[in-house]
Amino acid sequence: MENSTAPIYFDYNATTPVDPEVFAAMEPYFKQHFGNPASAGHTWGWAAEAAVVKGREQVAQLIGAKSQEVIFTSGATESNNWAIFGLLSKLRENNPQEPVHFITSNVEHSSIMKGMAALTRWNVDVTFLPVDHNGQVQVEQVKKALRPHTRMMSFIWVNNEIGTINPIAELAALAKENKIYFHTDATQAAGKIPMNVTDMGIDLMSFSAHKIYGPKGVGALYIRGKDPKVQLDPLIYGGGQERGLRSGTVNVPGVVGFGKAAELCKKNQAQESAKLRELSQTLWKELQAAIPGVKLNGHPTERAANNLNITLPGAKTEKLMSHLQKLGVSTGSACGTGAMVISHVLTGIGLSPEEVQCSLRLSLGRWTTREEISRAVDILKEGISK
Ligand SMILES: Cc1ncc(COP(=O)(O)O)c(C=O)c1O
Repeated sequence: MENSTAPIYFDYNATTPVDPEVFAAMEPYFKQHFGNPASAGHTWGWAAEAAVVKGREQVAQLIGAKSQEVIFTSGATESNNWAIFGLLSKLRENNPQEPVHFITSNVEHSSIMKGMAALTRWNVDVTFLPVDHNGQVQVEQVKKALRPHTRMMSFIWVNNEIGTINPIAELAALAKENKIYFHTDATQAAGKIPMNVTDMGIDLMSFSAHKIYGPKGVGALYIRGKDPKVQLDPLIYGGGQERGLRSGTVNVPGVVGFGKAAELCKKNQAQESAKLRELSQTLWKELQAAIPGVKLNGHPTERAANNLNITLPGAKTEKLMSHLQKLGVSTGSACGTGAMVISHVLTGIGLSPEEVQCSLRLSLGRWTTREEISRAVDILKEGISK
């Protein structure tokens, strides 16, 4: 019997619980098969190495890559930073005097926003393109922003706050036409929408296990191996693991878990998306019926199946905290170290600071139920009426 007073988790975009099948696959690699995959002379090492090979293959299959094109990292923040700085340092190594220009958008995850902003210290010009009111990058605007020395474009695939899906195939094609490296932050896309990085012409792609029911502390950077062969400077020097690009003993249980999570997502993607789409549409309909004037943020159709970002008319989320805690949601504004932090994504699509303070994200996942949807609507309705 479900406990009807227990808080309900609506923050699957922040992180997901580890799937029981993923946990079961990982468990033996903590105790029984604890070996170091770099130990090439004994059975403990071989077992660990075989597990890493399998995990890499499972992750590669999820995204349509070859397994040697997948390099494991600690997560998408690391992958995003490495894509930017690793590419820049390679470019500079090859052409130290040449000016460098990168293009991104103003609604990226903070790991791209801040990484790109830091590039000014390395004399790189960065264009942060505005998006339209639905949160999409406009291909025509990207064309206008191109310069003779534009070397990289980086655009988020599915926005983590508002769920808007960018036209990644078109953007990657534009980059290819102009011989510009194309990176995408696919942390909220991988495992949730079908993709094939090889066919789409993506050069670099970041993603993470803990957003797809895998463990925290493991992610990957896809680095295209052919047409073109993309070269990055190593991220960490040392024992030469991960093709010499990211040294350090590989997180074997993490990779096993990432692999299993990827396999499950690939197998169940179509039905899982359909179920989540139906649940989020029901939630949106019930919210509209219960809360007059509620507004949906992000694209009306080109959006992730599991995400609803809404603005509650005139109801600041800080005033609803006792109710929101029952829901485990994420809000558009938060009190940082004494100051109000306002979402750059919501302001980026044109919301006023007041509207941002009345906004929240409900992200659904593998274990969200129909009953939880109705309870969420009741809780929000009650909070607003109070
Ligand atoms: C779009 C996006 N990029 C990057 C990250 C960072 O991922 P990680 O927690 O694996 O570093 C997140 C996590 O919230 C995300 O949603």
